[in-house]
Amino acid sequence: MSELFSIEGKIILISGATGVLGSSMAKYLAQNGARVLVLGRNKAKVDGLVSEIVGNNGKAFPLQADVTDENQLKEVSKSVDRAFGKLDVLINAAGGNLPGAVIGPDQEFTDAKIEELRKVMELNYMGTFIPTMVFLPLMLKDNKGSILNISSMTAQRPLTRVLGYGSAKAAIDNLTQWLAVEFCQKYGNGIRVNAIAPGFFLTKQNRSLLTEQDGNLTDRGAKIIAQTPMKEFGQPEDLHGVIHWLCSDASRFVTGTIVPVDGGFNAFSGV
Ligand SMILES: NC(=O)c1ccc[n+]([C@@H]2O[C@H](COP(=O)([O-])OP(=O)(O)OC[C@H]3O[C@@H](n4cnc5c(N)ncnc54)[C@H](O)[C@@H]3O)[C@@H](O)[C@H]2O)c1
Repeated sequence: MSELFSIEGKIILISGATGVLGSSMAKYLAQNGARVLVLGRNKAKVDGLVSEIVGNNGKAFPLQADVTDENQLKEVSKSVDRAFGKLDVLINAAGGNLPGAVIGPDQEFTDAKIEELRKVMELNYMGTFIPTMVFLPLMLKDNKGSILNISSMTAQRPLTRVLGYGSAKAAIDNLTQWLAVEFCQKYGNGIRVNAIAPGFFLTKQNRSLLTEQDGNLTDRGAKIIAQTPMKEFGQPEDLHGVIHWLCSDASRFVTGTIVPVDGGFNAFSGV
């Protein structure tokens, strides 16, 4: 691989690393020579993924914290500092949705569950904000780093039903752009902040919304496929190329962007 795209030896911390998309990224980045710091809440799952990566001759290290808990993250940051002395890439992949923050077909706006909506905002927005705040000093040690947030198709044009999650992801887009500008102005050009906006990937988060028990598409799933020029859902592997590029120096002049990985969904007006 050309030097431009090399991620050999880079220290890459992934939150939500044991999830569907996070674990796929973690394994891919380790296969390509990165040292992957696997952050999750569940020790058994974290250790399992680390063993799998190490068993395949990759380099991976376990870290345990809740991404909304500043004190736990500070402890993690100290241990990363002791072990590596810096951080090259932070991928904020922890996130998700809750039923009470979704308005079902037979519900009204006033049926939204405020507590669940708060939790969705807390996990997605604060769970991106706090790790960025806590781990930034490790990147400032050599004024070089890439921060990667995970947005969604529902951030820029809201999707029906997905009320709280859409608001939280829209806030992540805004934060991504705000941080990109702030870090250039305060620290020079070394710290970049970007997001990827995955299209529709069949995962546990949305499988029941998009497919029936027998695997056929729901009405919503069919509408999404009709609106996707490539006429398919994404696979976790479809994120690897963009993640790799944003982790590497090949994206040196790229900051404040939100890259859709969506089979064309975002570009298509439906006509
Ligand atoms: N699956 C999709 O189609 C899709 C589309 C767009 C965006 N996304 C986003 O991609 C990211 C990964 O999604 P996924 O599909 O892999 O979901 P997932 O549920 O498989 O993974 C999310 C991970 O985050 C972890 N997590 C949840 N709360 C946490 C907390 N408080 N502290 C630490 N970890 C916590 C979970 O344990 C899980 O391992 C999320 O931000 C999600 O919103 C997913």
